[in-house]
Amino acid sequence: MKKIAKLIMATMMIATSCTLSAEVLPAPQTAGGMPLMQAMQERKSMRDIDPASTVTKQDLSNMLWAAWGITHEGKRTIATAMNRQELILYVITPTEISRYSAEDNTLTVVNTGDFRDIQARQDWAKTAPINIALVVNTDKQKKDEFQNYTAGAASHAIYLYCASVGLKTTVRAMLDNDEVERAMKLGDDERLLYIQTVGR
Ligand SMILES: Cc1cc2nc3c(=O)[nH]c(=O)nc-3n(C[C@H](O)[C@H](O)[C@H](O)COP(=O)(O)O)c2cc1C
Repeated sequence: MKKIAKLIMATMMIATSCTLSAEVLPAPQTAGGMPLMQAMQERKSMRDIDPASTVTKQDLSNMLWAAWGITHEGKRTIATAMNRQELILYVITPTEISRYSAEDNTLTVVNTGDFRDIQARQDWAKTAPINIALVVNTDKQKKDEFQNYTAGAASHAIYLYCASVGLKTTVRAMLDNDEVERAMKLGDDERLLYIQTVGR
């Protein structure tokens, strides 16, 4: 009897965690917006982010798509060497860390809790509402220089999107990588390169 109760409990816990973990984002808005040349003119690193500021789910969806959306023949908004598509984006919020899937436009929770303190060495980045971790799959792309190109291109797309809608952002390489990678539960074939902080 005890065994059956345990089994029911375990099944319920798994079912609950499954329903809680995947969030469908609003469809990305892929037309219109600020003219490209103007967004380039506006792009800059900004660190004076109000800890009380928020980023809407629509803006989050748009910026993740700008960085890593699927656009043509299964390919992406940014180029990747030999089309290896090695990038993985994680979103760090005050309550959880989630993994982005461009295929179904979802965020899947990989860890719950506030990890903003450990994902930044700089105070201004510890209180911002959104941090996007740029991770690469080192099995898909083994060359460091190509991995860095990919993460850099995605980072720049986030910069341009933020500039176009008046969000503040700065990419950061000064990180305690091991600690953050543990919090993100990265696999052996995943490597954290940068984290990009976003807010208002
Ligand atoms: C690869 C890379 C790593 C960076 N790392 C950090 C960082 O750890 N902390 C930070 O505050 N800014 C960081 N920055 C932002 C630069 O300081 C910033 O881009 C530079 O000062 C030029 O300013 P701008 O982006 O406004 O043109 C980084 C930028 C790049 C491209």
